[in-house]
Amino acid sequence: MKVIAFNGSPRIEGNTELLLKATIEPIEEAGHEVRVFRLNFMKIKPCQDCGGCEKTGLCIIKDDMEEIYNAIREAERVILASPIFFYGLSAQSKIMIDRCQSFWCEKYLLKRPIPSGPSGRKGLLILVGGMKNDRGIDCAEASAKAFFRTISIQEHDVLSFKGVDAKGAILEHPTALKEGQEAGKRLIS
Ligand SMILES: Cc1cc2nc3c(=O)[nH]c(=O)nc-3n(C[C@H](O)[C@H](O)[C@H](O)COP(=O)(O)O)c2cc1C
Repeated sequence: MKVIAFNGSPRIEGNTELLLKATIEPIEEAGHEVRVFRLNFMKIKPCQDCGGCEKTGLCIIKDDMEEIYNAIREAERVILASPIFFYGLSAQSKIMIDRCQSFWCEKYLLKRPIPSGPSGRKGLLILVGGMKNDRGIDCAEASAKAFFRTISIQEHDVLSFKGVDAKGAILEHPTALKEGQEAGKRLIS
């Protein structure tokens, strides 16, 4: 099964990365290769709304999104992991998502949705926020849901933790890593 994961956190060994690692562990143990894109370290320009993708479904900007486009097309499982920044997804996550406007054009204007593949397509959203309220989680999930539907993922699971702020604090959470592992197992079941 082809599994890809987006890490939208700039913090190395931060909460998102640690939780993502725990989630990926059982997937790799089951023999599936997981390709992780650390968005903060990639060269990805924001969408220019140039309309270049409207007739072809292809983005005209040539940068690191090219490898992501191919990976999304082939993926059967997609994990999006992001910290909550200003009540939404991190900029690193959002820039990548906005560039998927080309898939939106392909699906809705050109009527060519990404095909399902042998094991279907499923998503997992992982969110970590420092605040104790749900608003940031809800806003981030709305964007992520639009992303998943655009890339023809009809079904996604959500794993979110609030009140987790300091670097590495997720390790002190009583259930987070275990819940990550369980979500990873469910994703490939
Ligand atoms: C620029 C910035 C904005 C943030 N905004 C929010 C926010 O709106 N809501 C929230 O719950 N946490 C917010 N936080 C806290 C982070 O979500 C929190 O520290 C999280 O654990 C970071 O995950 P990471 O270690 O993977 O980077 C913000 C942090 C930064 C750096």
